[in-house]
Amino acid sequence: MAITENDFNFLKKLVYDQSAIVLETGKEYLVESRLQPLAQKEGLKSIEELVQQIRLNKFGNGINKKIVEAMTTNETSFFRDVHPFETLKKEILPPLIEKRKIRQELNLWCGASSSGQEPYSIAMILRENFPQISKWKINFYASDISQQMLDRCRKGLYTQMEVNRGLPATMLVKYFQRQGPDWQIKDELRRTILFREINLCGPWPYLPKMDVVFLRNVLIYFDVETKKTILNKINRLLSPDGALFMGAAESTLNLNENFARTPYKQSGCYQIASPT
Ligand SMILES: C[S@@+](CC[C@H](N)C(=O)[O-])C[C@H]1O[C@@H](n2cnc3c(N)ncnc32)[C@H](O)[C@@H]1O
Repeated sequence: MAITENDFNFLKKLVYDQSAIVLETGKEYLVESRLQPLAQKEGLKSIEELVQQIRLNKFGNGINKKIVEAMTTNETSFFRDVHPFETLKKEILPPLIEKRKIRQELNLWCGASSSGQEPYSIAMILRENFPQISKWKINFYASDISQQMLDRCRKGLYTQMEVNRGLPATMLVKYFQRQGPDWQIKDELRRTILFREINLCGPWPYLPKMDVVFLRNVLIYFDVETKKTILNKINRLLSPDGALFMGAAESTLNLNENFARTPYKQSGCYQIASPT
C-alpha cells in the first residue's frame, strides 16, 4: 500500500529532526522501500502501523535510530573518485608532515565514513607513502551516524565485489587477509583508526584541531542552513594549514566564504581562505 501524505510528513520530520537528512516530496518511494522491511522486522504489517505505534509511543527512542539508519544512503568505495586521494598523497600530506615534524603528531577525521572504505583508503595511503611517520602520534577518527555502518567499519570485512571497486590488487594483498569468501583488513591497519558515532547535526564531542578532514558525499543530504552550520564548525576545527575534502557534487560556495578551493583538479579539496 502506498504511504499516505500524513505518514510521509511525519517520517520526514522525524528523520530531519534526528539527522538533518531532508526527504523531499517525491522521495515517498524511497521511504516505502526502506521502511517496509523495518516495519516487518518489528512485527508490523505496514508503514502505516509503524507510524501509528510511534505516535502512540509504543517503542522507545530506539525506533527513531532504526528509522534514520534505514533512511541513510551508504554508497561508498575504496579510493572513490581517485583524485582526492591523489591530492592528499601528493599535495597535502608532504608539506603538512614536513611542518609537523617537530611535534610528530597528525590529526585526521573522516566525518561520514559509511562502511569504512574511505578511512581505510586514507590509512593505506599513510602506510604506503609516509614511513617517516610510523612512530608519530596519529589521531585518526572516523565517524558516522549509523551504528550498523560503524560495526562494519570496526570489522573491516568486505566482499569480493566491494574490494573489486577501486582497490589496487597490490593493496589487497598487503593489507587484507582472506576470511572465507570475504576479505578482512589486517589488524595492524584496523587499529590505526578510532571509529565513533558522531551525528553531524548534533553536538560534536571534543575533537582536536584537525589537519585533514574528509566530509564527502554527506552534505548533499542536508539543507542550506545545516550545511552552513557544519561548515562553520569545520572551519573552526581545521588547522590554518589543514585541508577539507568534499564530494564531487559538493562545494563551500555560498555556504562559507572562509574556505578557498585548492587548484588540484577534481580533488574537492579546500583550505582556510585567510588563515590567522
Ligand atoms: C553516501 S555515504 C558517504 C560515504 C563516504 N564519505 C564516501 O564519500 O564514499 C553518506 C554517509 O553519511 C552518513 N550520514 C548521514 N547523515 C548523517 C549525519 N547527520 N551525521 C553523520 N553521518 C551522517 C550516512 O550514514 C552515510 O554512511
